[in-house]
This record gives sequence, C-alpha cells and structure tokens, in this order.
Amino acid sequence: MAIRQSIIIDCDPGVDDALALLLAFASAAELDVLGISVVAGNVSLTKTQYNAQRIVALAGRAEVPVHAGAAEPMLGSLQTAAVHGNDGVGGARLPAPAAPVASMNAVTYLGDNLMARPGEITLCCLGPLTNLGQAIARKNDILTSARQVVLMGGAAEGGNVTDNAEFNFFVDPHAARLVFNSGAKLVMIGLDLTRQVPITRARLDQIAALGNKAGKAAHEMLAFYSQADTAMHDPCVIAYLLKPELFSGRDAVVDIEIDDAGRIGQSVVREIPEGGRGNALVLDMIDADGFFDLLCERLARLP
Ligand code: RIB
Ligand code: CA
Repeated sequence: MAIRQSIIIDCDPGVDDALALLLAFASAAELDVLGISVVAGNVSLTKTQYNAQRIVALAGRAEVPVHAGAAEPMLGSLQTAAVHGNDGVGGARLPAPAAPVASMNAVTYLGDNLMARPGEITLCCLGPLTNLGQAIARKNDILTSARQVVLMGGAAEGGNVTDNAEFNFFVDPHAARLVFNSGAKLVMIGLDLTRQVPITRARLDQIAALGNKAGKAAHEMLAFYSQADTAMHDPCVIAYLLKPELFSGRDAVVDIEIDDAGRIGQSVVREIPEGGRGNALVLDMIDADGFFDLLCERLARLP
C-alpha cells in the first residue's frame, strides 16, 4: 500500500479544477488534502474562491480550508477564460459554501506549511502560478521544501491562448519562470498530454449515469465546458498522484518565455545537455481510458 500523500491544491476553479478537487476528495485513502489555495485565472479571485468553497461543500469536506491568494498576475493584468462560463463552473447548481474562506492569505499559508513540514507536502498546481511566484519572492528557495510540485501548464508544442502559450503560463509567465527556476522537484503536465483525454459524449453520459450529487454537478459543469474545450486538463494532476503508472514522460529542461511578446508564456522544452541537469519531469503520454475509469470510479464514491 502506497503511503498517504499530504497535498495542497492551488487552483482557479474553473470546471476542470472542480473535477480535480472532486477526484482528490474522493481519494481520501491515498490523499490527505491539507488545504486549498485559490488564485485568479479562469475567473476572478472572488469567483474562484467561491467556487472552491462550493466544491468543498459538495464533497462534504467542509473541514478543508480554502485560502485566497492573488487577484492579479505578478506583472500585468488578469486575463480570464470564457470557456468556464461567467461564474466559472458553467452555471452548474452547486451547494452554498459550508465554511468561510480562511483568514490567512494563501501565499502565507503555502510558505508556512512548506517550512513547517519540509519534504512532506506535494503541491498540486492547477492554475496560474502567481501564489507560488509570490511565495518565492518572499523566500527564494521555498519550493525546495515541497516533496514535489505537480502542475498542469505549458506544452512542448503549441498553446491554447496563443499559438505558443498555454493559459496558466500565459496569464502569469513571470510566476511560471520563477517556479521553473526554483530548484523544486517539478512534474509538468502540459497540453501535449491533456489533449489525449477529451470528454466525449459517451464519457459525459457515463458521468451523468453515476446518480449521485457529485456526478450530477460534474455532468452539468462538463456539459457546458465541453462545448468549447473538451480536454480534462486539471484532473490529470490528481490522477498522476493516484496512478502514476497511467503516465509516462521524460526529464527535460523547461524555460518560460517572458521577453518575446509574440511568444510570452511559451514553455520551451529541451533535452538535457550532456553533463547537464533537468528542471522538470515532463509527462506527455497517458492511458486515457484508464484515466476516465479512475475518474468515474472515484466520483461514484462521493455524496
Ligand atoms: O490551459 C488549461 C488550464 O488553464 C487549466 O488549468 C484550466 O483550468 C485553466 O486554468
Ligand atoms: Ca485550472
């Protein structure tokens, strides 16, 4: 039996973030969700924090704290994503929050927990990396205290905001660059992988047929989201912790473009030079059916 992993989920719910949260909450034997930190991204911080609170309530996990973080990227202004709807969850009917947002700012929460438990906590990052970037600005080696940082973002080829940049890295390229230069043990799950797990009609129907509240809410969110983006980006981060055997990739050198306006936020993925060292494990293959079987089996466990 694998050891139970202590995790903090940094996210911008967001429909696929919501599915990732539900997958994590449904896997209590393997994952101890210490807390959630939220960031502005898909929608404003006010909406991402409210959505995180409602997903926590839906999963029946009101004891898990939601900490609010950055409302804007480190530089420049926020760009949101219409694909999640104006409320960020595709208009799905979700329960009201069962607990208030925690008083401690997310950046302080992340730093304090990593320093208190060096080498023990896995950060799961599902949105723009602004909260982590601000934590690094406060203490530049803070992420080396994480057991690992598993993040959804970037791509070796292509983008989904521009031809070159993926949304999370595009919204805050400076934070992304700080994270990839932080010395942390990084696992990058980019578009190359997440495009392999589209939510199809058959898979939507499978989720609708689960019959529980979580399945119903997941179906409502995904039915809206899949009209514009079918890739199940963020749940792949949680699935990697649960079943790493579903994934494969390679160690590489990843650099984030912050100067060339035409390529801002691009993740340039290179082979490790002879005698050099990589800064991330870049995953680029997934067993899509195995992922969806896991997702549905776990969603069925929720209320
Ligand atoms: O590019 C996809 C990523 O950007 C996902 O995390 C989605 O939720 C948005 O944050
Ligand atoms: Ca996200």
